[in-house]
Amino acid sequence: MKKSLGDLFLREKTLKERGEKVLGFTLTSPAFPPPPIREKILNFYKFSFSYSPAGGDLGLREVLANFYSKKWQVDLKKENVFVGNGGKEVLFILLQVLLKKKGEVILFSPYWPSYVGMVKMAGGKLKILKTSEKHGFYPDLKELKKKISSKTRALILNSPCNPTGRILRQKEVEYLADLSQKRNFILISDEVYEIYDFENLYCSFLKFFHKNIFCVFSASKIFSLCGWRLGWGFGDEKLIEEMKSYQNDLSTSPHTLSQILMREIFREEKKVLRYFSKNKKLAQERRDFVINFLKERKIDFIFPEGGIAIFIKIPSKFKNAFSFSETLLEKEKVSVAPGEIFGHKKYFRMNLALPFEDLKEGLKRIARYYS
Ligand SMILES: Cc1ncc(COP(=O)(O)O)c(C=O)c1O
Repeated sequence: MKKSLGDLFLREKTLKERGEKVLGFTLTSPAFPPPPIREKILNFYKFSFSYSPAGGDLGLREVLANFYSKKWQVDLKKENVFVGNGGKEVLFILLQVLLKKKGEVILFSPYWPSYVGMVKMAGGKLKILKTSEKHGFYPDLKELKKKISSKTRALILNSPCNPTGRILRQKEVEYLADLSQKRNFILISDEVYEIYDFENLYCSFLKFFHKNIFCVFSASKIFSLCGWRLGWGFGDEKLIEEMKSYQNDLSTSPHTLSQILMREIFREEKKVLRYFSKNKKLAQERRDFVINFLKERKIDFIFPEGGIAIFIKIPSKFKNAFSFSETLLEKEKVSVAPGEIFGHKKYFRMNLALPFEDLKEGLKRIARYYS
């Protein structure tokens, strides 16, 4: 029987349970120190026993609206903020609400795999536009314009992109924000890797915010707090009201303690900004280390302008990324994410935001297959 991706992940789990040390580069969870929160947890613990309002704690929504308004010089109100159990819940609920009456969603490949499942679960029809290797996996905006129809309900963009690390330029952001208004679709901009912008290219769609824009952010990636399950989005007030009602039936509210702590963290704005630039530097050092290693060995990869992952071309002797990933796991005890899950079978993705020793050791084992 043909093996599936599920088998690959299961195999990794079994090896780990057996006590084997697997170097895990599959997930994009950053292994950087979180903000200093230990004391805050004890202080706020007693306020965390009940539900919070659907859509999020009002204090947190206010602090987020202020922080991002200042950052992008825009006027966001707490009514524009929606907080969810992870960026995933924000995206999931958004798509459920937008696709109530069905419709099409446009997505560029390579893509983050959960978009596909989410659109399907919401009953939407996906239109996938391939970006080409020849053009460095940058989205082709002319092609996009041709594909928009009266059925287009939403376009999903992800910059910095997971898995390619590509970043949309400000003029493209402005053009696309304008296009969403002219052609009346919702532009969903997933910006969960907002702080990892190594070439200073990133521009948020919040800069051109209007009722057709919805931007998504996450504590998982910018604070290395994946386990807190906290994400937030900015959108039109009416849309947010519908999302609140959906969340009320789904999970009632996001996790109370992580929201209260996040509110306290964001209140110390200067500290947050210092923390972000420290983590960006940590990620950049790792990116530079990995790309220098690959360049020296003439291994092809997509230059990550941002994000915390790198998309690397598989060795020519393998017919697809799945078989290469399987070999790496069995023979080298290294786990990576095969490109098939992102819509491209000739590449694999690995997490960069990891300890140097793991990166060094993992790359050494990977490089054996390119000689
Ligand atoms: C592109 C992208 N968007 C959204 C998420 C969701 O993150 P979370 O639900 O942890 O906030 C991830 C997580 O890997 C991601 O890579």
